[in-house]
Amino acid sequence: MRLQHGLALCASLDRVALAASNFKTTCLEFQPENFIYNSTLRLLEYVTSGTNLTFPGNDASCARSSQVVSTELCRIALSIPTSNRSSIVFELWLPQQWTGQFLATGNGGIDGCIKYEDMAYTIYYGFATTGSNNSHNGTSGFAFYHDPDVVTDFVWRSLHTTATAGKELIKHFYGKPYSKSYYLGCSQGGRQGAKAAEMFPGDYDGVVAGCPAVNFNYISSWRASFYPITGPSNASDFIQPFTWTGLSHREILRQCDGIDGVLDGILEDSDLPLYGEQGQLIYPGLQHGGEVMAVSGLLAGKPFSYSSDWFKYVVYSNPGWDALTWTIHDATVAEALNPPSIWTWPESLSHFRDRGGKLIVYHGGQDNQITALNTERFYNHLSVGMGSPAACLDE
Ligand SMILES: *[C@@H]1O[C@H](CO)[C@@H](O)[C@H](O)[C@H]1NC(C)=O
Ligand SMILES: *[C@@H]1O[C@H](CO)[C@@H](O)[C@H](O)[C@H]1NC(C)=O
Ligand SMILES: *[C@@H]1O[C@H](CO)[C@@H](O)[C@H](O)[C@H]1NC(C)=O
Ligand SMILES: *[C@@H]1O[C@H](CO)[C@@H](O)[C@H](O)[C@H]1NC(C)=O
Ligand SMILES: *[C@@H]1O[C@H](CO)[C@@H](O)[C@H](O)[C@H]1NC(C)=O
Ligand SMILES: *[C@@H]1O[C@H](CO)[C@@H](O)[C@H](O)[C@H]1NC(C)=O
Repeated sequence: MRLQHGLALCASLDRVALAASNFKTTCLEFQPENFIYNSTLRLLEYVTSGTNLTFPGNDASCARSSQVVSTELCRIALSIPTSNRSSIVFELWLPQQWTGQFLATGNGGIDGCIKYEDMAYTIYYGFATTGSNNSHNGTSGFAFYHDPDVVTDFVWRSLHTTATAGKELIKHFYGKPYSKSYYLGCSQGGRQGAKAAEMFPGDYDGVVAGCPAVNFNYISSWRASFYPITGPSNASDFIQPFTWTGLSHREILRQCDGIDGVLDGILEDSDLPLYGEQGQLIYPGLQHGGEVMAVSGLLAGKPFSYSSDWFKYVVYSNPGWDALTWTIHDATVAEALNPPSIWTWPESLSHFRDRGGKLIVYHGGQDNQITALNTERFYNHLSVGMGSPAACLDE
């Protein structure tokens, strides 16, 4: 009995070892550039579990110079043109132990940073996983300047190109198509996921859109609205971080913590929204409690780069634009421009729903850059737009 058990164990180890050498050969002989029109190969490597991958070419502002992976995989990087003057760098990680599923990861901020940690996380669970640099380097918005194609890539085209290329390559690599396709992203990545469900309802069967930066034009304005209020950090009347984290936060908790019925240091509700030129609510407020982390961001007395870069390089195409001069009129201008439909505020995702697509949205109540109240509004907006009460929407 014990012997049999021992034999069975050896046999299964042999099978894995054999598969590994086949997999490595398959990986190194694969020619992905042959399957994606006009693409060029940047990298192809077989990676063993436990490898600490390093990314020497990755822009320093991405703050992602290495990533440990915990599974065997075939790593592919291609440059894929998205227009006659823009291209994405696309990575596809193919696991040796594949579940048959495809998963695309998104970006964050206004960046072109591949979320290698998300790729490592999902490939560990057997998803063939993609990521892309969103057609620009690093966290700055400078690449948007006078280049609407890079903006278009950022808004939707990079992710759609990635999904299309990833699915095509999977078919050729494993010799069979994927069974289900998923998307995972947070913040700007959450917006990308919601946009994909709206524009390309066939791209994913399931979308996880965390803390989504939907209502993007107005998020940019809401974020931009803080600096003119706080003033620069060297001004004599600037409210110092301690006032927010110490006095204000303590006082807010003292007054408000009990409102939800529990004295737990957690506030369940708050408000202080931004109203547009016509007096309409355009963006809900920073939730009380968020001020602790906002002191190094929205309340730091300096331009909030995701917003100021957006206004400089996209809305006004004027690198000299001064974030201190922001007024509510700039919100009207940004919204009217809506380049190229980045708003991401769909009234309906019925095409996505009707083909069986599922959207999961989550949001932390202490988010200091995107208010969870905006996500509640997003939910209600969809519920009304789709004539679908919560009981149906949540099905
Ligand atoms: C494909 O590549 C060729 C050669 O570089 C170029 O002339 C052509 O314009 C490209 N086509 C597209 C659609 O990018
Ligand atoms: C991976 O390599 C980088 C660069 O050499 C190093 O800074 C980092 O600490 C390494 N990570 C681990 C977990 O060993
Ligand atoms: C982006 O970064 C890479 C690697 O540092 C560099 O080779 C490339 O020229 C950069 N591209 C742009 C458009 O800045
Ligand atoms: C990101 O894409 C741009 C445009 O294709 C490219 O110039 C750059 O080198 C890529 N960045 C990285 C870090 O690969
Ligand atoms: C690039 O394509 C656009 C249309 O998308 C066209 O107007 C433009 O002339 C093209 N530029 C070049 C350099 O081919
Ligand atoms: C505050 O700093 C800015 C540069 O960041 C400078 O232009 C300005 O003169 C400074 N103001 C004061 C009051 O020191």
